[in-house]
Amino acid sequence: MRTKVVIIGSGPSGLLLGQLLTNAGIDNVILERASKAHVLSRIRAGVLEEGTAALLDEAGVGKRMRHEGLPHDGFDLAFDNRRHRVDLHELTCGKRVLVYGQTEVTHDLMDGREAAGAVTVYEAGNVQPHDYDGARPYVTYEKNGNTHRIDCDFIAGCDGFHGISRKSIPQDAIESFERVYPFGWLGIVADVPPVGEELIYANHPRGFALCSMRSTTRSRYYVQVEADERVEDWSDERFWDEIRDRLPTATAEAMITGPSIEKSIAPLRSFVAEPMRFGCLFLTGDAAHIVPPTGAKGLNLAASDVRYLFDAFREFYIERSSAGMDDYSNKALSRVWKAERFSWWMTSTLHRFPDQGAFGQRIQHAELDYLFQSRAALTMLAENYVGLPY
Ligand code: APR
Ligand code: PHB
Repeated sequence: MRTKVVIIGSGPSGLLLGQLLTNAGIDNVILERASKAHVLSRIRAGVLEEGTAALLDEAGVGKRMRHEGLPHDGFDLAFDNRRHRVDLHELTCGKRVLVYGQTEVTHDLMDGREAAGAVTVYEAGNVQPHDYDGARPYVTYEKNGNTHRIDCDFIAGCDGFHGISRKSIPQDAIESFERVYPFGWLGIVADVPPVGEELIYANHPRGFALCSMRSTTRSRYYVQVEADERVEDWSDERFWDEIRDRLPTATAEAMITGPSIEKSIAPLRSFVAEPMRFGCLFLTGDAAHIVPPTGAKGLNLAASDVRYLFDAFREFYIERSSAGMDDYSNKALSRVWKAERFSWWMTSTLHRFPDQGAFGQRIQHAELDYLFQSRAALTMLAENYVGLPY
């Protein structure tokens, strides 16, 4: 088999790149290790920057997002038993975010790909990129007991943090930067109305909490937990008690609780691999970088990587120029590192660190106090949260 671009991974990165390439008439195949149902079963964050939403519109899959997504003009930071609103719309001269679950984005992209008749091989085993530093790259995979080979021009590694693409690069050709946080997020989904009309991020002596949502009838809540916590030690009742302990009294009293329909613990890390291009192999999204979810940047960074990489491929195939591909890694990493900084800053400012001590807690409090006494400080927060320019 031969195609122009082999995409490894059918998450948001791979699906969005595939849709844009297909729409531009650039032939591509997606190879996905898991089943379609498994990919759709993942519960992930749900705050879209305007650039991400515009890219989904450009890919022709934005109709349901525009109909069901919730435009948000701000969010609250809660500390000292009070909520303080960050007016994104006012501070960024009219920008806002769209609350729409990543699972829905993945669903819409899969529907778009099927409608376009593009090829996705699910449950593709032992996917391996080959000869990507030469002129004749190819990818092999196993399916139904046979080994298959796809010859291509380029390989897009969209296979996430645990994928094969980054791991197949020789150690001396790649450098990684990492910070693992000493805690995790215990998250639940419950079919109860969210306590706030907008998101509430809480800094509390007992630890961080976040009140988010999937719709006006489905809530998504998180509490910071020890890194080695086990989800089976957290009954629904224990979760509801803990999150209400971390919220301002009036908010806690207004919270409607109910049975969880999903409950899981995610670790938090910051990670970047450099560079993001190796000959004919390009890394996008979680394959190249990870952010703690505090700034809701994971999906949005995957989108900006795809914007740059799609433009580079289109330039190559239609304008016969490789300038975009040559610049892809530097351009993507410039935006990645600014989002890494913001996500690290939000995480450092809102969580309880075991070793931060009394001085560290005072510094954290001063940071929060300063935010709401300085328009410049609050604007920094707002412009990063809505997303820096591409
Ligand atoms: N072969 C084929 N597919 C693979 C392999 C492999 N060896 N390893 C992983 N995959 C698939 C996974 O099953 C998954 O469907 O690659 C896909 C990677 O998707 P994501 O991990 O969602 O990464 P990405 O598409 O970059 O999206 C980033 O997802 O994890 C969240 O917070 C993150 O919101 C961000 C977004
Ligand atoms: C979510 O809705 O899952 C969510 C929202 C904002 C974040 C992280 C997660 O910062």
